[in-house]
Amino acid sequence: MAKLRYGIIGIGKMGHSHAKKINKGMDKNSVLVAVADISEERRSWAEKNLKNVKIFSNADDLISCSDVDAVIVATPHYFHPEYGIKALKAGKHVLIEKPAGVFTKAVKELNELAKEKKDLTFGIMYNQRTDPMYREAKKIIESGQLGKIKRINWVITNWYRPQAYYDQGGWRGTWEGEGGGVLINQCPHQLDLFQWLAGMPKKVYGFAKVGVERNINVENDVTFYTEYEDGGSGVFVTSTHDSPGTNRLEISGDGGQIIVEWKGLLSEKFTFIKLKTKESEFNKNNKKFMPIIPYTKKTKRISTLSNAVRMGLIGQHINIIRNFSKSVLFGEKLIAPGLDGINGLTLSNAVYQSSWQGKEITLPIDEDQFINELEKRKSEEKVYNKKA
Ligand SMILES: NC(=O)c1ccc[n+]([C@@H]2O[C@H](COP(=O)([O-])OP(=O)(O)OC[C@H]3O[C@@H](n4cnc5c(N)ncnc54)[C@H](O)[C@@H]3O)[C@@H](O)[C@H]2O)c1
Repeated sequence: MAKLRYGIIGIGKMGHSHAKKINKGMDKNSVLVAVADISEERRSWAEKNLKNVKIFSNADDLISCSDVDAVIVATPHYFHPEYGIKALKAGKHVLIEKPAGVFTKAVKELNELAKEKKDLTFGIMYNQRTDPMYREAKKIIESGQLGKIKRINWVITNWYRPQAYYDQGGWRGTWEGEGGGVLINQCPHQLDLFQWLAGMPKKVYGFAKVGVERNINVENDVTFYTEYEDGGSGVFVTSTHDSPGTNRLEISGDGGQIIVEWKGLLSEKFTFIKLKTKESEFNKNNKKFMPIIPYTKKTKRISTLSNAVRMGLIGQHINIIRNFSKSVLFGEKLIAPGLDGINGLTLSNAVYQSSWQGKEITLPIDEDQFINELEKRKSEEKVYNKKA
């Protein structure tokens, strides 16, 4: 069968990496045929570094190019739904970078169109869904071994970004260019996994602090609390100014506890503590005051580079591209369907809304109010950086 022909819009840090990998043949089922970027500098990089590829100076020309079967959108966030919609309308398969967009209203429109275009494949670059530790957690939860989830806690404060990062200018760290801070740029992967593993909450209460230890207009220190229909709860903590910071996920259920802790590429550790009797059962018959419920413990580590590649910790982005190509060509199940993108974005929109209003938000969020508040922040934005 013929290879899937990709076109990539936006060949900056992320898009150029996707372009190089496809162009080098790292996905045997696809070929790179076109790239588009508004930056002359990026286009001359493409001329020098990519073979047999058409180079466009705008997204529309790439989308209408008849050589292109599938479009990867790797531009700043606001353009993801816009180009996703245009590409689907032009009959192209679409793989968008994370996050799905900045506000849910635009992403809903994209999702509605994607549902209509049943013959087109729509994916999102949630590459951390290929991380073997989170996949193991998902498998255990789906098998029922963890039981009803009581609590999900994630402390992800190892996104260290100094002032120099924000001072590089461009679209980063602004409401206008990026649509927020750590929630919209660094955390979409964890927000997706948070809901992929524990489901969507019914209530969100958030505190999104702006410009902590940094001269920026957007949030870089966030804590939020979630409540679920079945009585479970969650806490999520993130920041870009802690060093070294922590990345630890804990999910407690009636059947035990899952812990995924990251202390470096080869020090990611997965633990599943499985209670021999579910806590609810144990509690019915137990007469002791402070017992320990007997358990078994299973751990998983990566430890070597070859394991990291073999198990899919390294190569996450190309693995999502390979899966997307196989999904289009052979009907393989998508690891990260595009329609899922709205869930993590709903969480971050709800956290902002809660923080702005100083109260708990019951989902669904008020989308028009969110857009009004976002526009207000764009208009009040201070210029910290002349390069912005
Ligand atoms: N999946 C991941 O692990 C991951 C990692 C980093 C970034 N990203 C995402 O990738 C996207 C791009 O981030 P980046 O770090 O590569 O940013 P970047 O600024 O390095 O690259 C963006 C590129 O898009 C181009 N561009 C901007 N507007 C355009 C338009 N209207 N049409 C065509 N080209 C346009 C810019 O000139 C630039 O070259 C973001 O959504 C970001 O969140 C994902």
